Amino acid sequence: MFRLSQYMREVLHPTPLTPARKPAGPVVIWNLIRRCNLTCKHCYTTSADIDFPGELSTAEIYTVLDDLKAFKVPVLIFSGGEPLLHPDIFTISQRAKDMGFYVALSSNGTLITPDNIAQIAAINYQYIGVSLDGMQAAHDKFRQKSGSFDAALAGIRLCREHGIKAGVRYTLTQDNAADFPAMLELMDAEDIDKFYLSHLNYGGRGYKNRKDDAAFVLTRQVMDALFEQALRWEQQGLQREVVTGNNDADAVYFLHWLQRRFPERVAHVQAKLRQWGGNASGVNVANIDNLGYVHPDTFWWHYSLGNVRQRPFSAIWQDVSDPLMAGLKATPRPLLGRCGACAHQAICNGNTRVRAQQLTGSFWQEDPGCYLTDAEIGLHELIEEPA
Ligand SMILES: C[S@@+](CC[C@H](N)C(=O)[O-])C[C@H]1O[C@@H](n2cnc3c(N)ncnc32)[C@H](O)[C@@H]1O
Ligand code: SF4
Repeated sequence: MFRLSQYMREVLHPTPLTPARKPAGPVVIWNLIRRCNLTCKHCYTTSADIDFPGELSTAEIYTVLDDLKAFKVPVLIFSGGEPLLHPDIFTISQRAKDMGFYVALSSNGTLITPDNIAQIAAINYQYIGVSLDGMQAAHDKFRQKSGSFDAALAGIRLCREHGIKAGVRYTLTQDNAADFPAMLELMDAEDIDKFYLSHLNYGGRGYKNRKDDAAFVLTRQVMDALFEQALRWEQQGLQREVVTGNNDADAVYFLHWLQRRFPERVAHVQAKLRQWGGNASGVNVANIDNLGYVHPDTFWWHYSLGNVRQRPFSAIWQDVSDPLMAGLKATPRPLLGRCGACAHQAICNGNTRVRAQQLTGSFWQEDPGCYLTDAEIGLHELIEEPA
């Protein structure tokens, strides 16, 4: 995840480069339940409104929570399916809060209602992210349910009214890119705390519908507009967070934007971005699915590292006998193709390995989602002329 607004702040108000802190444990995104009231076209969990047998029981979830705590996991993001359909979502969330985790909820927002908002507010989630994949028509089509945009927006408003930090999560595709400017206006109109632009990843229905992925030229236009908007929000002194996900090349593209807009800040921001280090799957980001399988991130559901019913998460996570985990945790990663030759590996760290593996069969081939030109990844400089 590329924290754009954080680096934009560094452009306007640079802070000294201090030694990087290594997180104690990974952020865990936990899909507690796969059932969902929507069936989105891109859904990596391939969720639907049906029961998925064999899910972790609440007692099993509590056992895993103890292990995660002992392993110093700082942040839990409860996801799904739709986590608000889990019958014990509030007791599980409360327990996690009481144990001292930072707890966030990843929701489609449609089930945040006047009936349950007091209960949601009482948990005191540190953050609730609600998906909005375009404005009304595009969102409802994408999420395959009419009325879902209005219901999600109503959910966001309820959160804001109850003092809960809430954000919009927007997955960019060819079908909803035209709504991008309107989404940014919505952020202002509703005074929403955080905007998360997610690029399409190739898991589940997202793999099946990958033809909807935004063309590179479109992605570049959207990113340019996002940089300008993030700059304006910073200049206005808003504390609005802007982050992007599923394409760590965004950070490199940002450096190229800086080169044009604030060349005097390139070296400073580059140093900060190197400290961040790019893609963190298998290192600082982890996923546990509804059945207890552990994955390097949420988009690896077709590849399991083990199951928490058989081995604690802490043991699975540290086991580098798995070739994918060994490579993800290696510095540098054993990247091939354009990613292997890229001059910006220290910033991007090879981007999204799922897309590479889904399209080429290799964990380490180039990410087909990298929208940077050869010149932007320094390829011309790296290719040696034959003697
Ligand atoms: C799987 S959903 C679960 C939480 C909730 N049901 C929701 O839709 O927000 C978590 C997030 O992943 C995003 N997502 C799902 N499939 C994706 C994909 N293939 N690529 C990128 N993001 C995806 C969703 O848009 C949502 O923001
Ligand atoms: S993306 Fe979220 S709302 Fe959509 S089907 Fe998947 S779990 Fe449900």
